[in-house]
Amino acid sequence: MSAALKPVHGGASPPPRHFLELMDHDGPTLRRMLDLAVRAKRGEITQRPLAGKTVALIFEKPSTRTRVSFEVGVRQLGGEVVVLSGADSQLGRGESPADTARVLSRYVDAIMLRTSSVAKLRELAAHATVPVINGLTEVSHPCQLMADVLTFEEHRGPIAGQVVAWTGDGNNVAQSFIQAAARFRFTLRIATPAELAPPAEVLDWARAEGATVELFRDPAEAVRGARCVVTDTWVSMSDETPDAATTNRHNLLAPFQLNAALLRHAAPDAVVMHCLPAHRGEEITDEVMDGPQSVVFDEAENRLHAQKGVLLWALAERG
Ligand code: CP
Ligand code: NVA
Repeated sequence: MSAALKPVHGGASPPPRHFLELMDHDGPTLRRMLDLAVRAKRGEITQRPLAGKTVALIFEKPSTRTRVSFEVGVRQLGGEVVVLSGADSQLGRGESPADTARVLSRYVDAIMLRTSSVAKLRELAAHATVPVINGLTEVSHPCQLMADVLTFEEHRGPIAGQVVAWTGDGNNVAQSFIQAAARFRFTLRIATPAELAPPAEVLDWARAEGATVELFRDPAEAVRGARCVVTDTWVSMSDETPDAATTNRHNLLAPFQLNAALLRHAAPDAVVMHCLPAHRGEEITDEVMDGPQSVVFDEAENRLHAQKGVLLWALAERG
């Protein structure tokens, strides 16, 4: 090896643009990503800004939307993807996230990770010299929220100042809604059983940021007058437990079902959202999911566009 020959990847300068949590970015930066998403959706990104770039997509948990929308989105922007599952990579056999990050940073231009361990995501990001994107953890799902804000605004205009109601489990998506309330300046009302309320830390953070986030035990009270009503599965991937515990969650959450009777308490033009996959007949009824107020499939489509905004910001728009 000649003295001058050395690895191309000599360290990150400036630091990579990670997309780990909404709270990591200010409102204008998130708005910039959404603006890019809108431009991508309108077909205004005509060149191939990710040409010559490769994104690694790592799934330690199942996925339909995240996997397909990232893969298609990267390709449409001119880039390539490598898809890995936890089971068929060394990460799944105990290679550290730090070493995985150091290695993948030599091969690819960005890494998306879906995992049930936010600690793993953070370790990966701390050691990667390329952008790391959160594709869902047990405590957050920021890509979903970018799509959700885009969807609300397409249907009902600016989300700032609006009332959004969540009914059901105070899960990872709910926690990202709390972060979004702070960053996009909407009021968030969350109805959950006491045992399944979102953690105090994220609520405290949002309130310290000036957000209005209110907790309820009665879903009808939370939903009253809301312009958007949201729910999600009663058993998230990181909560899959033995049958008895699942039965207990179902019993606790049954009164929080998003059904026609509950939706009648919302504003007459409220939209209904769900990140999907839905468990029809559990957290949401067929009548609501397939009803005129439901925008769930627009929301699913917008994962593609919103993530293009994130990718363009992280990879193609370095200032
Ligand atoms: N909403 C969402 O993230 O769906 P997938 O689990 O199918 O990726
Ligand atoms: N809360 C759900 C979201 C799936 C996209 C889960 O974590 O399983």
